[in-house]
Amino acid sequence: MTIEEKVDLISGVDSFWTKGVPRLAVRRLRMADASMGLRNAFIPATAFPAFIALAATWDRAAAYEYGSAVGAEFRAAEIDVLLGPGINLYRVANCGRNFEYLGEDPILAGELAVEYVKAVQAQGVSATVKHFAANNTDWHRSVSDSIMDERTLREVYLAAFERVVTQAGVGAVMTGYNLLNGEYAAECRALIRGILQEEWGFTGVVMSDWGGTWNTMASFGSGLSLEMGVAKVFTRERLLALAGDGALDLEELDRKVLAILAWTFAIEEAQSSASASGQRRGPGHLRTALDVARKGTVLLKNEGPLLPLDLGMRRLSVLGPCAFPTPTSGGGAAKVEAIDPRSILGSVLELAPNVNVSRDEDTLAQSDAVLVCVGFDAATEQEGADRPFGLPWKQVELIRKCAAANPNTIVVIVGGGGVAMADWIDPVKAVVHGWYPGEIGSVAIAEILFGRCNPSGKLPISIERTWRDAPAYGAYLPDGESLYTDPDYCSQCRPFFQVHYKECVFVGYRHYDRNGTAPLFAFGHGLSYTTFTYGGLTIERSDTGVAVCCTVTNSGAVAGGEVVQVYVGDPQSTVPRPVRELKGFTRVELAAGESQTVRIELPERAFAFYDVTAKRWRIEPGEFVIEVGASSRDIRLTGRIQYAGE
Ligand code: GLC
Repeated sequence: MTIEEKVDLISGVDSFWTKGVPRLAVRRLRMADASMGLRNAFIPATAFPAFIALAATWDRAAAYEYGSAVGAEFRAAEIDVLLGPGINLYRVANCGRNFEYLGEDPILAGELAVEYVKAVQAQGVSATVKHFAANNTDWHRSVSDSIMDERTLREVYLAAFERVVTQAGVGAVMTGYNLLNGEYAAECRALIRGILQEEWGFTGVVMSDWGGTWNTMASFGSGLSLEMGVAKVFTRERLLALAGDGALDLEELDRKVLAILAWTFAIEEAQSSASASGQRRGPGHLRTALDVARKGTVLLKNEGPLLPLDLGMRRLSVLGPCAFPTPTSGGGAAKVEAIDPRSILGSVLELAPNVNVSRDEDTLAQSDAVLVCVGFDAATEQEGADRPFGLPWKQVELIRKCAAANPNTIVVIVGGGGVAMADWIDPVKAVVHGWYPGEIGSVAIAEILFGRCNPSGKLPISIERTWRDAPAYGAYLPDGESLYTDPDYCSQCRPFFQVHYKECVFVGYRHYDRNGTAPLFAFGHGLSYTTFTYGGLTIERSDTGVAVCCTVTNSGAVAGGEVVQVYVGDPQSTVPRPVRELKGFTRVELAAGESQTVRIELPERAFAFYDVTAKRWRIEPGEFVIEVGASSRDIRLTGRIQYAGE
């Protein structure tokens, strides 16, 4: 290859393409967004439930099915690279992109993303795990500097990426717009060359986010392989001039070129051998999407129990801005245009044709129950901006009015994360989090409301009672600043500001467990129409770590899904460690009265912390606590195991 061909190859063209090397018949690769489905590819695509709804399933198999379906639609559209999964952790409820990520815990996010990536790539499409790293707010993201210590970075904000890179063989990594400890992510050599490429052994392509580059030599020297969407700092003129001055590391240039060529050939190889040449949107993918919504919708509260409603009920009031139309997604690069979006109202009418459904606020007291559908949409929760913790305009007043008029009030939340509930939830008997249900997930919400589907979703996030309880309270927006609505994609319209991750490793439930504050709803929480009992805990050493076994029984009257969660604690640690950290989980589907013994393998790493002095993961000697629970605050079994340390 000539040097012109080489420097051309390391930047994109036409926004979503690589250039290839025409003279050598190296073809261009086409990319598209994103994690939740095929965007802007000019063919009908399935609008899947939001990625955080997938996280709420806690179901590896569902993650694989979701990835297979999305990957198949990319393949059918002849798109080579999927710009997802996005796996940045949920640090603040406000982040405009929480809906397209997998929640607050790195193990849950990492495990599900591994399955998703394997599935997408089995379709002959390269996945691109993003946004590397610590892109946990979209508030002026191009001048936002995530400041944290090395242990927090390793144990929390890199852990899911490490899993995807080392266990799923992801083809590409996309850097974030943000800065990390004072350096732009795309320019951070310690992060890209040091950790990603040398320590984790990643040999794939490291691409920038679109326009997420600012300095040629810093981006070139960091290990970044490919500037996307078009050349801004890797222009031919600039790189050839540097080469002419002997200032361009030509070995590094070859390293980038080889990574892109290898990636291109690997994709071609996968496409030649992939069993399917893709599959377009159709009944199969809609079933997958519906299955995710059925398993990911979370029943947060159910006093009475008011739910499930009776299909023979006389009259139901259905109100709220999200009842019809029901927002299918948040806004930005993750949003897939829904071909045939269902709504909660429409799904209720279809499922309960004999129920008299009223939309009239003046007849609330006459109804057997009132359903209020509230939340956000693509204009109020989106990329390039963050959102308030509170519900949008006048929705609280509507909920209060309904609850005052009718004690049997149910609230369904549509959105990408936690919302303020403390000032309206007490008189409300039932609350359901439907996330963004995609084009068909509203059917699942209606099925759950009327008991056709037993809810089994578990929160992948903690939901604080008030914003002041949140782990990041006081360490998020710069003092005196406020949220904005018009998205700022990658401008540098204002001075840099630092976001200090003062909570360190104590993100989400780890924070609440340490400081004793009870969240309104705990990480891992989700109600069912049945009950489950746990017993028979055994903890034994295995070849690869520790095997935790227990027996779960469906002690109720209807079939249901349960997520068995395993948490590990090191009460004798010499460094501050969370009371408990999720280290394993599995989902079981049990008929009424059925029992199943589950075995959850914990690798050695599950007991380790990152020793910043020794620069390695280390297990300290002593006794570890192992807890098995139905949520991080509903611990059913507890055991202990001794470690001699290392
Ligand atoms: C956007 C997003 C990224 C997306 C890319 C291409 O700005 O940050 O997630 O994949 O640009 O649209």
